[in-house]
Amino acid sequence: MIPAPIRPATEADLDDIMQIEHDAFESTAWPRDSMALELAPSNDRHYFVATIDERVVGYAGINVVSGHQSNVMTIAVAESSRGAGLGRALMQKLIDVAVAQKSVEIFLEVRADNEAAQSLYRSLGFEQIDLRRGYYQPENIDAVIMLKAIDLSSQPANAQPLVLGIESSCDETGIGIVRGTTLLANVISSSMDQHARFGGVVPEIAARAHLEALQPAIREALKTAQVSLEDLDAIAVTNGPGLAGALMVGVGAAKALAVATGKPIYAVNHLVGHVGVDVLERGQVETPTIALLVSGGHTSLLLVRDLLDDVELLGETIDDAAGEAFDKVSRLLGLGYPGGPQIDKAAATGDPKAIRFPRGLTLPKDMEKHRYDFSFSGLKTAVARWVEVAETKGEDVPVADVAASFREAVVDVLVTKAVAACQDHNVSRLLLGGGVVANSRLRQLAAEKCEAAGIELRIPALDLCTDNGAMIAALGAQLVMAGRSPSSLSFAADSTLPVTQVCSL
Ligand code: KG4
Ligand code: ZN
Repeated sequence: MIPAPIRPATEADLDDIMQIEHDAFESTAWPRDSMALELAPSNDRHYFVATIDERVVGYAGINVVSGHQSNVMTIAVAESSRGAGLGRALMQKLIDVAVAQKSVEIFLEVRADNEAAQSLYRSLGFEQIDLRRGYYQPENIDAVIMLKAIDLSSQPANAQPLVLGIESSCDETGIGIVRGTTLLANVISSSMDQHARFGGVVPEIAARAHLEALQPAIREALKTAQVSLEDLDAIAVTNGPGLAGALMVGVGAAKALAVATGKPIYAVNHLVGHVGVDVLERGQVETPTIALLVSGGHTSLLLVRDLLDDVELLGETIDDAAGEAFDKVSRLLGLGYPGGPQIDKAAATGDPKAIRFPRGLTLPKDMEKHRYDFSFSGLKTAVARWVEVAETKGEDVPVADVAASFREAVVDVLVTKAVAACQDHNVSRLLLGGGVVANSRLRQLAAEKCEAAGIELRIPALDLCTDNGAMIAALGAQLVMAGRSPSSLSFAADSTLPVTQVCSL
């Protein structure tokens, strides 16, 4: 059976949760207001929902109290979905959170007449420590108080796991090896040159190139890290989002390695990998943080409250990715591929104010609906028109000015929206990721605006910003250190994997 996805609950789940709550607990159900308060963002409360076909069929919550103690607040599964292991999966998720938060004791209470639940909890290491008479009123049912003691020293949490990460979501075959938060190898083989004559990544070519590059890259990474496959504690792989065919190559290779070596495998989210890479430079990702991820394949603005448990997509591009816009405009201007570096170079001598190109989705009416979304296709068309008009007039196209003005329009929108996201959510950190971070003007403007707004700006080293396997290994290691269960071998590549799914079971 493929386990049901479990994701952090949001306030939008309130209706579904209350429905299950009423069905399961009837007269003792929590009032809607209390549940709404529980679901509100918090550092201590962690609520999750289990879903089947994106329908909420169960939920559970834990409160991490200071003093290394956690309390299970609630857990319920819709009657129609019982018997499928969802209660166990939800409870395991709560235990994972407690372990990650360094709790040494987890408490829960359960109705004395609910034998099935007690036996499930016992199988997860809970023991009865007390009985509260007549706790559940008006039925006058006793509450069994159970405790699970956690020996943190025996948890993998304290280990420094050796993890190999495989990245193949776009045109970079990346193999990274980390020990805990220490980078040991970061081998990247790019098929970029093979896409140059097409002006953009061709999925079939990328997939084939991954097939050819994977084995040598794995060998090279092991050699650089001076470890062997037997030494690994786990294998991590990007299972989405990205190009389906390209992802499948990496996923297939990772599963084969896991089966051959008997090592656990973690299927991780590419976008969250871009954020998690920060552990390799700072030992941790400081949260909450806003993350702006800009590359040839994605333009996403994330709110990361917790790297492993609470990543929210605030907005993304509704058409072209930022890097793609650079590539397309570069082609239009007769510059090469990849376009970003070419435009950056051409723009160096241009005037960014020469032409006022449109800033996508920044008009007041757009800001209502698309406050954190991006659109670059209108800008690309505007550049094309401008060039066309100049050419029909027989004028020379001032490439440097066009490049500088275009770059300014892209960067302006990216930075303005990222800073707004920080301010709106009261978050004073911004982390950048993706290949477009190489852009000199983006770095400059982000630095200026963040400084003015009192926001701490994090830009990882460039070879960690572009797609790489080290970020996937780093995120995998975080999961191992948090004591998370590995993925089953039945997970699949998912080209549209949502950012809320940090690790696919
Ligand atoms: O993260 P990345 O290596 O992965 C893919 O999306 O494959 O990003 C590559 C993208 C390309 O679209 C490239 O044009 C863009 O990043 N890029 C840049 C710059 N350097 C690379 N965009 C703007 N300015 C740059 N200096
Ligand atoms: Zn990427």
